[in-house]
Amino acid sequence: MQGVFITIEGVEGSGKSTQLLRLSERLRRLGHPLTVSKEPGGTFLGRELRRLLLERHASGETWCPDAELLLFYADRAQHLEKVIRPALAEGKIVLVDRFEDSTRAYQGASGVAESALDRLSDLVLKGLRPQLTVLLDMDPEVSLQRVEVRNLSLGAEFAETRFDEAELDFHRRVRNRFLVIAKNHPNRVALIPARDPVAQVEATIWARVAPLLRSAGFGVD
Ligand code: TMP
Repeated sequence: MQGVFITIEGVEGSGKSTQLLRLSERLRRLGHPLTVSKEPGGTFLGRELRRLLLERHASGETWCPDAELLLFYADRAQHLEKVIRPALAEGKIVLVDRFEDSTRAYQGASGVAESALDRLSDLVLKGLRPQLTVLLDMDPEVSLQRVEVRNLSLGAEFAETRFDEAELDFHRRVRNRFLVIAKNHPNRVALIPARDPVAQVEATIWARVAPLLRSAGFGVD
């Protein structure tokens, strides 16, 4: 039996974590075998890489774009090998917070060439693609305000990602790249307006997830 591979993507502050939690709780209530994970950071190695990728390095040294790209793909290679492929082989539903579309959106927006992304993708993914990608779309002007509020309530020194400080312009480019991916892969990517109330976004996501699960033999009622 083969499982079902679903990813969730979007700019920072678009509500991914909330929606991932709601979807995973629903699937657990339905009694389905489930693996929930994230990139970067879905394995031991990945958590080390996440720390390296997202924390400001004490030395102040920044990662050059190619090094950063390779670290994201190192995380993904380990995650695929240790978590995603085994769970799919066991017939589980696999929900992953960020996957390759994030690399194409973020590292693409940082100037990494498509051809480099294609080569690494061939090497690491070996043709594996999510059956469904939920893309939570939101204007970064709004989503980054949410992140700021969250960081303020955490205390700025605990802000987990270094991208939050990047120019709004960078996040606009990231969003546009996500939108292009959605346009180029209309069957795989469900483009969901993320500014709607949380319960409405949840229902819209479920309306896309349920038919996929049903067709894969999982009950959805
Ligand atoms: P997260 O906290 O939403 O998981 O965000 C992790 C950060 O890493 C976020 O700024 C997006 C970024 N990222 C990339 O730049 N490239 C990638 O391939 C992935 C998976 C994440």
